[in-house]
Amino acid sequence: AYDAGPFVPDNAPDLDTLRTAAAGCEGCPLHAPATRTVFGEGNPHARVLLIGEQPGDQEDRQGKPFVGPAGRLLDRALEEAGIEPDDTYTTNAVKHFKFTQVPERGKRRIHKSPTLRETTACKPWLDAEMSLLDPDVLVALGATAGKALLGSRFRVTERRGVLLPYEERGECLVATIHPSAVLRADDRDAMYEGLVADLRVAARVLG
Ligand code: URA
Repeated sequence: AYDAGPFVPDNAPDLDTLRTAAAGCEGCPLHAPATRTVFGEGNPHARVLLIGEQPGDQEDRQGKPFVGPAGRLLDRALEEAGIEPDDTYTTNAVKHFKFTQVPERGKRRIHKSPTLRETTACKPWLDAEMSLLDPDVLVALGATAGKALLGSRFRVTERRGVLLPYEERGECLVATIHPSAVLRADDRDAMYEGLVADLRVAARVLG
């Protein structure tokens, strides 16, 4: 089975140790076509843990999560919701960019959603990151992150924007739509306002 587990160091003392080890992960086939592993980034003492789906094209090139168009939109939404960038740590459910290349479309790499199998394989990295973080609130950005944290039956559309218990850790969690969904939507303004409203629910936990 695909599994990042054997690549995750036991009792890593810090996130940098994990990041270094994750650079060599071959726990699933996604590592081969991708440029690099994109590990989480941010304040190790953050009160807000943001979890996306997987790196996109720009993230794969630059090696950092949410640095492309979705990241710019997310930054704006966080600011509007009153969440300080310094108070966040940002990561993804899957740490490699999954894409297809259509020959007729030249060099463009088109994002493909990770499967449950790939998300499950990568979960040991997210678990290891979470074991070194102590956030007050987790924010699941989109269905993939929601399912990775709360199980494959989780439906963001039905459960978004409310404080949910994250039993496993005694913390709380807010699920919302993925920022990329805003970029793709016809009713971008309404989708964006919905994202900000959900982030405000997370911000309220911080007091
Ligand atoms: N979308 C994600 O889910 N994560 C990123 O890092 C960038 C885009």
